[in-house]
Amino acid sequence: MVIRVAAVGDVHLGEGDRGTLRPALDQLADQADVLLLAGDLTRRGEPDEARVVVDEFAALPVPVVAVLGNHDYHSDQVEDITTLLSDNGIHVLEGDAITLRIGDHTVGVAGVKGFGGGFPGTRASNFGEREMKDFVRHSIVCADRLRSALSGLTSDVRIVLTHYSPTVDTVRGEPLEIYPFLGCYRFGDVIDECGAHLAIHGHAHFGSEEGATSGGVPVRNVAMPVIGRAFATYSVKI
Ligand SMILES: [Fe+2]
Ligand SMILES: [Fe+2]
Repeated sequence: MVIRVAAVGDVHLGEGDRGTLRPALDQLADQADVLLLAGDLTRRGEPDEARVVVDEFAALPVPVVAVLGNHDYHSDQVEDITTLLSDNGIHVLEGDAITLRIGDHTVGVAGVKGFGGGFPGTRASNFGEREMKDFVRHSIVCADRLRSALSGLTSDVRIVLTHYSPTVDTVRGEPLEIYPFLGCYRFGDVIDECGAHLAIHGHAHFGSEEGATSGGVPVRNVAMPVIGRAFATYSVKI
């Protein structure tokens, strides 16, 4: 049995974008069993932009599961955005998981926005000024949320959905100087510790599509500028 996973992130929708993705998405049922949205759905995190997201992604023929990204947090209206998406059937995860039944199998998605922190060789350390420790602490909190969401999944297929990257592999192509703001090794460590079939993220617009955690779990950067289309599809064999 193969589970077909469609995914896209960083669509950064706003007024004027209505209808730009929908024609491609209407074909989803032929190509995928589930659609994952990897955050940065809006430009500035405004509810009006989230309404455009709803118009593009609601009422599709497959379940839609999302995490939010840093742009979606910009206007401090995360609760309103989450409610708007949820009320229209888009499952928004933040430190929790959803289990979907697809055919005879269960597919679990554990989701968290994630955060920066960097990767071996370029990582931030929990030391010094309060502001630096606050930065690192948020990364640790997000990794703990992912652990609790992922470790509770008992589904046949386990997928991790984040906005920030869990591996350096898929940020390659970005300027080296900003790697610590693009993701964190902690998420990769949690994925390897708990186990998963696939990890999906966005955020690194100039990164690379394919990579893996150090433990070998496939990681895909689905930022729309990276995949260059309305969504990418991946197969998980069980
Ligand atoms: Fe983005
Ligand atoms: Fe982002």
